[in-house]
Amino acid sequence: MRLFDTHAHYDSHAFDGDRVELLSTMPEQGVELILNPGCDLETSKMAVSLAEQFPFVYAAVGFHPSDCGGYNDELEQQLRQMAAHPKVKAIGEIGLDYYWKDNPPHDFQQEVFHRQLCLAEELHLPVIVHDREAHHDCLEVVRQHPNVKGVYHCYSGSLEDAKTLVKLGWRLSFTGVITFKNARKSLEIIEWLPMERIMIETDSPYLTPEPFRGKRNDSGKVHLVAETIARVKGLTVEEVASVTMENGMKFFGIEG
Ligand code: NI
Repeated sequence: MRLFDTHAHYDSHAFDGDRVELLSTMPEQGVELILNPGCDLETSKMAVSLAEQFPFVYAAVGFHPSDCGGYNDELEQQLRQMAAHPKVKAIGEIGLDYYWKDNPPHDFQQEVFHRQLCLAEELHLPVIVHDREAHHDCLEVVRQHPNVKGVYHCYSGSLEDAKTLVKLGWRLSFTGVITFKNARKSLEIIEWLPMERIMIETDSPYLTPEPFRGKRNDSGKVHLVAETIARVKGLTVEEVASVTMENGMKFFGIEG
């Protein structure tokens, strides 16, 4: 089986003790590609550095809505320079997060999101979007950038919004959350969603799938996400692995 974990944070301190050893085991676990998005300047740099160390790791650079409080022209210029690296395949993760009360103000998050979408358009890169409890505003900003293609990571919106996003040419990506008992809504969306618009991810070290929920997550568990999708779609896990690998490579422009 060949799996593509399209969203994992190996820059996280959760991996400080065994980052290199753990990543080195991924090919033998069937994980052939990993995309590591950044959340600020430091983690974006680390993502690029991991992509330089491991042939199967690719990077995205960007400011997460929770970490975008200091966003300015100078930081944007640094993102632009980092994005010129051949292993940087997207701007991300970017978006809106209204869940945490101490996040930057909503209008500032929207401005930074908008600016990073403009950057992606300028650089001809796709975007990885984080939308937590901001579905309406997030879709509004996305609609203003019809020339940017993107993926909603860990999709948590409605079926109706999913249909809109598919019409706009976007992809939706799913994590271990779909293995949880209360995932009925996500499973209904997956049932409807065309297979060629689905990508899989772990969001490691977070969102560990069942039966490992509560433990640290890593890309070696992404097959559990593929298995759940396979069950919903009536496909084999190998078929889901293969299609989502192809989708991810096409979306990020990774050559075979
Ligand atoms: Ni993430």
